[in-house]
Amino acid sequence: MGLCSGCVCVCVCVCPCCHLSTSVLQDCFEDAFDQIPVASRMDLKTSIEECSMALNLVLNNKFSEALDLLKPWSKESMYHALGYSSILAMQAAMTFEHKDIQAAMATIKDALHTCQRFRKKSSMVESLSSLVSKQSSDRLKEEEMHAEICYAECLLQKATLTFVQDENMISFIKGGIKIRTSYQIYKDCQHVLSLVEARGGDSEALRQFEGGVKLGIGTFNLMLSLLPARILRLLEFIGFSGNRNFGLSQLREGAATHSLRAILSAFTLLFYHTYVCLILGTGESNLTEAETLLEPYLHKFPKGSLILFYSARIAVLRGNFDKAQQKFQECILAQHQWRQIHHLCYWELMWCHSFLQQWEQAYKYAELLYRESRWSKAIYVYQKAAILSMMSDEEVSRTGENVVELFRMVEGLKQRLAGKSIPTEKFAIRKARRYSAATPVKLVIPALEMMYVWNGFSIVGKHPDATEGLLITIEKAEEQLCTDPSPSEYTPDDQCLVQLLKGLCLKHLGRLLQAELCFSQVLASEKRIRYDHYLVPFTLYELGLLYKQQGDVAKATRFIEDAKLNYKDYSMESRLHFRIHAALSSLKTSPVSTP
Ligand SMILES: *[C@@H]1O[C@H](CO)[C@@H](O)[C@H](O)[C@H]1NC(C)=O
Repeated sequence: MGLCSGCVCVCVCVCPCCHLSTSVLQDCFEDAFDQIPVASRMDLKTSIEECSMALNLVLNNKFSEALDLLKPWSKESMYHALGYSSILAMQAAMTFEHKDIQAAMATIKDALHTCQRFRKKSSMVESLSSLVSKQSSDRLKEEEMHAEICYAECLLQKATLTFVQDENMISFIKGGIKIRTSYQIYKDCQHVLSLVEARGGDSEALRQFEGGVKLGIGTFNLMLSLLPARILRLLEFIGFSGNRNFGLSQLREGAATHSLRAILSAFTLLFYHTYVCLILGTGESNLTEAETLLEPYLHKFPKGSLILFYSARIAVLRGNFDKAQQKFQECILAQHQWRQIHHLCYWELMWCHSFLQQWEQAYKYAELLYRESRWSKAIYVYQKAAILSMMSDEEVSRTGENVVELFRMVEGLKQRLAGKSIPTEKFAIRKARRYSAATPVKLVIPALEMMYVWNGFSIVGKHPDATEGLLITIEKAEEQLCTDPSPSEYTPDDQCLVQLLKGLCLKHLGRLLQAELCFSQVLASEKRIRYDHYLVPFTLYELGLLYKQQGDVAKATRFIEDAKLNYKDYSMESRLHFRIHAALSSLKTSPVSTP
C-alpha cells in the first residue's frame, strides 16, 4: 500500500518538474546537477504535498507507510528528507534506544546535506533582497526560501534529539549543535517573509513558508523563554531571552494556517501545555487552549493514536482519571506498529493508578514498562520497587517480587547516553543505595516522592478525594516515623520528605496555613538533613509558590530567589532551576493582588 502510493506520486511529480526553467536552475544548481540526473528531480509543490500525505499517514497510525512514501526521495528532495528524518527522530525519542538515536542522527545529517544543496551560497537576505524585484526568478527563490526553512528545522530537530538525551542541555554545546545558526536562519526567514509580503507576494509556497517561519520563531521564543539565565549563557545566547508570549502567539498563528506545519505548531503548543509546563514549569498550563487546539484533529483523526494520547493526557491534567484511563486504553488498541506509544500510555496509566493509590494496577504497568521499554530500566525497576513499597506484605507476596532485591538492581541498570547519565536515574540510584546495607532501612513513601519529582501533586491536586487519600497515607508515615523506637541516620531526611509532601497536599486542599507550617518544619530541620539535600531548595521554592498564591509577591520572590542563589549540587538541580525560572517570570508579570 505504501509502496503503491509512493509509485503513483513519483509518476505524478515527474511532469511538474518541467515547469522549472532549466536554465535558471542550472545557473544556481550546477553542483546539484552534477550529482542528480534531471529526471529524478521533484518540484517543491509535489514534495510538500507528499510530505503532507506522509504526515496524514502518521496521524492515521500508518507509520511504516509514511516512511515508505518518503524514503525513495529522501536524498533528493528536501521535504522528503525533512519528513523522513522527523519520523525517525520522533521514533528515536520514544524508544530511547542508542541505535535508534544514532540512526536518527545520521538521517538528520543526510537531511541537512540534502537541504544544503538547495541553499543559496551567499547570505539569503542579501541575495533575496536583490531577487525580490526580478519576477522571473520567483520559482527559484521559493525553493531557496524553503531550503532555508528546512535546513533550520533539521538543525532544530538535531537539537531536540540531543535535548531528549540529556535534559540539562549542556550537551547542546558539547554536541556542537549550531542552535544559534538555526535561530539566525529563522530570523532571516522572518525578514524575507516580511519583504515578500510587503511586495504583495501571495502563493501557496509562500503560505507554506510562512507556516515554517511561525513554527520556528514560535518554538525558539518559547524554548528560550524556558531556559534559566545560566543555561542561556552556556548556549552563548548572552543577553537574550525568548519572549514567551510572542512565541505562543506565533505558534497559535501557525496552528491556524492551512500549511503543512499547522499541526506541528499545534502539537508544539500541546506538548508545551501538557508536559513542559508540568515538568519544567510551575504546573500552570492552559488546558482550555489545549482542548481547543486538539478539537479539529479529534474529528479528522478519531483513531489517531497521537491525538488520542493528547486527549487522554488532557483528561489526566483535568483530574479526570477515569476518562483518561479509558482514552489511554483506546490509544493502545488503535495501533500496534509503534509499541513505544503503548509505553507512553503505560507510563501515564501507572501514574493515574498511583494518584488513586490503586497500587496493584500501578504495579502492573510499572512491570510492563520494565519488561518492554528500553527508555530507562533503572527508573522502571526503581518505580516498580517504589510502588511495591506502598503495598502490604501480603499484597507484595502475591506478586512474587522481592522489593529489596529490586532496589539493589537499580544501580546496575544505569545507562549512559552520550557520556551523561539522566538526572532522574541518578536520583533513583542514590535513593536505592539504602538497600545495599545488609539490613536496609526502608524508604518512606517512595512512590509519592517520585510523584513529586514528576510534579504529580499539581495534577492530583485537582482531584480533592485523591488528594485526601494521599494525605492519609502521608500522615500514617509521619506517625510511624514519630513513634519509631529505633530511629536511624535517615530519620531526619525522611521526616522532612514527609513534611514537604504533606504540605503539598494541604496546599491543594486549600489549607494554606497548615501547609506553610509543614514547609517551615523542613526549613527548620535543614542542618539535620544528611542525604536528601534537594529537600531544602525544593521546599523554599514550594513555600515561594504558596506565598504567590496568597498574593504576597515580595515574600514569594524572596524565598524563590533564596532557592535559586544559595543552593547547589543537589539532586535534580537543573529541573528546579527551570521551575524557578518559570515561577520568577510569572511573578514579574502577575499583578500584585490582595489575598
Ligand atoms: C487560555 O487560552 C485561551 C484561548 O487561547 C484564552 O482565551 C485564555 O485567556 C487563556 N487563559 C489563560 C489563563 O491564560
